[in-house]
Amino acid sequence: MEVIVAKNAEELGSIVANVIVQLLGRMERPTLGLATGSSPQPVYDELVRRHRAGAISFANTTACLLDEYLDLPPEHPQLYRTFIRRVFVDQIDLPLEQLLGPDVSGNQPETCSARYEAALKGAGGVDLQVLGIGSDGHIGFNEPSSSLASRTRVKTLTRQTREDNARFFGGEVDAVPKHAVTQGIGTILEARHLVLVARGAGKAKAIAQAIEGPLTAMVPASALQLHPHATVVIDPEAASGLQLLDYYEQAFRGKPPWEPI
Ligand code: GLP
Repeated sequence: MEVIVAKNAEELGSIVANVIVQLLGRMERPTLGLATGSSPQPVYDELVRRHRAGAISFANTTACLLDEYLDLPPEHPQLYRTFIRRVFVDQIDLPLEQLLGPDVSGNQPETCSARYEAALKGAGGVDLQVLGIGSDGHIGFNEPSSSLASRTRVKTLTRQTREDNARFFGGEVDAVPKHAVTQGIGTILEARHLVLVARGAGKAKAIAQAIEGPLTAMVPASALQLHPHATVVIDPEAASGLQLLDYYEQAFRGKPPWEPI
């Protein structure tokens, strides 16, 4: 696993945007996995900026969501499909039919999970998956105790996650859905490159446990330890609990030019 401590949100955004731009340049039809939440926002902002500057096009990219809330009306602004359109997809040239996600509109979460797994396969699998991390160590909506081999399915959200996400629902915990459909940890691990981003002191403990703690279902993000190509890009606050901080900084700042992220 490569751990990169960015100086600030802007540097974090530009480091991850560079990796995505390289992918877009290398592949004819890349598949990009998108995470919601606030952590990846600087990445999306930087990609939008470069797109507006004419440097990149997403016309041949397929984008796949990690997860989706259940029990929200179709017009709700916090549905993840709506959220990602607002903060990213509607500002670039990615055709909407190339934005995939769990289709929760039919009220049949189990069928929708299986259909989404098939859609991911149909897209040729995910080339690069952007991930955030919950303060309880979740990835997607795989809460602590999720099977490390899990596939896309319905999960019940923890109280902690609903409290954390209440800020997107007017501060009301009760307005946050209790369930979501999420790619499983086994599904996420099939992406060819995982790039986890985290910002802020509120993520320091989860980050330290995920990177330097034992592999455990109690910290779903520790599953990144199993992946042959996992990159973690965090700000100094999120990095503050890491024991090997000096080593990671030394490795990144002294990285030879032939070694890509
Ligand atoms: C939600 C999403 C996760 C995301 C997490 C962290 O729970 N389902 O995919 O990683 O939020 O969000 P934030 O980046 O806003 O802290």
